[in-house]
Amino acid sequence: MDYIPYGKQFIDKEDKKSVLNSLSNDLITTGPLVEKFEKELNKYLKCKYSYVCSSGTAAIHLAMLAIGLKKDDVILMPAVNFIASYNLAKIMQLKVFLVDVDEYTGQITPNKIIECIEKNKLIKISVLLTMYMGGFPENVQNLYTLRNKYKFLIIEDACHALGSKYLYKKKVFKIGSCKHADISTFSMHPLKTITSGEGGIITTNNLKIAKNIKLLIKKSIVPILYGVFSPPIHALIALLIAKFFNIQLGDTILLMVLAASASYIAVPAALKFSIPKANPSLYFGISLGITFPINILIGIPFYTWLAKFFVS
Ligand SMILES: Cc1ncc(COP(=O)(O)O)c(C=O)c1O
Repeated sequence: MDYIPYGKQFIDKEDKKSVLNSLSNDLITTGPLVEKFEKELNKYLKCKYSYVCSSGTAAIHLAMLAIGLKKDDVILMPAVNFIASYNLAKIMQLKVFLVDVDEYTGQITPNKIIECIEKNKLIKISVLLTMYMGGFPENVQNLYTLRNKYKFLIIEDACHALGSKYLYKKKVFKIGSCKHADISTFSMHPLKTITSGEGGIITTNNLKIAKNIKLLIKKSIVPILYGVFSPPIHALIALLIAKFFNIQLGDTILLMVLAASASYIAVPAALKFSIPKANPSLYFGISLGITFPINILIGIPFYTWLAKFFVS
């Protein structure tokens, strides 16, 4: 019996050469080639922000996290779908509603979505997750109209659809341009349009979403470090200012303590920036529980000593 492969990738000499070249780089992940690829994607898809990640599944997960979905938020998705989206929604404890698909295209339609909303008496819908079966985007224009009517966000599971185009008011757009969706996700599994072995892409035009994705992918430690070290940084800035203006010792100490206290705002703000899906009580808990006692117990004696040392 002939063996029919599940998928077959095309890899030529050039591809092999560039893989070998990249293996001799110091950074074989998240290095300059990744950034170059992301920039190329921005140009090709005509979107503002593209990020690559480890799989299409990871891209969908990042999309859900980046828009701040939380427990019990309502998500609609096609009943005929790849299991990843459903599993992720369940892991995130979202309320999932499966929308029936059209018998010919295998995709959701505006009417089927309205049926689902009315049948389940849904009032607030957070997200519609669309899936373009076989890479053929259906109903983009009408789904976008529904987005604006019901005020949900659209995440496109475009894992099959890298390079696909659609018509919107007689103009041609690429899937992934995010002109009529909030986030698009793609897979680079060998079965898809292009492959990197395993891999995923996530695109958006929304700066806030893009920042969240970047923080989730690149694990930026800078804001966290700033959050932790902000009291002495602020106090030192105050000391320099006091020295410059020849301010007397008592006022310098007061100024340093006040400046360090600005950390009660800086720490929550820095943490909110670096951990987008954490809740505000965590930031204030950390700020009041860590920054405040450290500032009182260690900070004030330290700032007093420092000010005495520098201000004579
Ligand atoms: C529609 C759809 N979404 C998501 C995925 C998940 O992509 P990956 O295998 O890269 O995690 C697939 C993979 O086959 C898919 O077909």
